[in-house]
Amino acid sequence: MILITKDEIQTRTKQLAQQINFDYKRREVVIVGILKGSFMFMGDLLKHLTFDVVVDFIQAESYEGEDSTGNVVLKHELTTNIKGKHVLIIEDILDTGQTLSNISVYLSVYDPLSVKIVVLLDKPSRRIAQIKADYTGFKIENKFVYGYGLDYKQKYRNLPDIHTLEYLV
Ligand code: IMP
Ligand code: MG
Repeated sequence: MILITKDEIQTRTKQLAQQINFDYKRREVVIVGILKGSFMFMGDLLKHLTFDVVVDFIQAESYEGEDSTGNVVLKHELTTNIKGKHVLIIEDILDTGQTLSNISVYLSVYDPLSVKIVVLLDKPSRRIAQIKADYTGFKIENKFVYGYGLDYKQKYRNLPDIHTLEYLV
């Protein structure tokens, strides 16, 4: 079942970009996308950003199938020097929060000027780690979702809408 349509995603993404453009004005920002899930959202969001951006990626994995293992493994590290820079993390979904809290600690070691987080989706009811996004696309219920970059067993990332797996509560 479709939970969020591609049109709803595009409209909300433009709104988020406007807010981010207003907040960052003409500053230069290092955008750090969390692979793999954020690639589609990141591409769409960045098209609407009007300040200078440097793009980098981190790959973190914590999920196996439908559940978070809580054990976050970094599979691709930052290649940009972020010391003294504004950093904006782009993530597909904030679930237990363990991925983003680990990544925030990892980035803070490099002494950035600021770190903010943009997430397309937020499942607040699942939170374990104390972490909040600065910009959130949609708050959703505790349902497993896929499509628009998000996978179910590594498939369906190419779907333009966000779907729910119905049999989960
Ligand atoms: P967290 O560490 O529990 O916050 O998990 C965040 C990561 O788990 C995200 O980056 C996603 O890759 C993945 N994830 C969490 N919920 C879902 C979902 O409903 N569908 C697909 N991936 C998910
Ligand atoms: Mg992810």
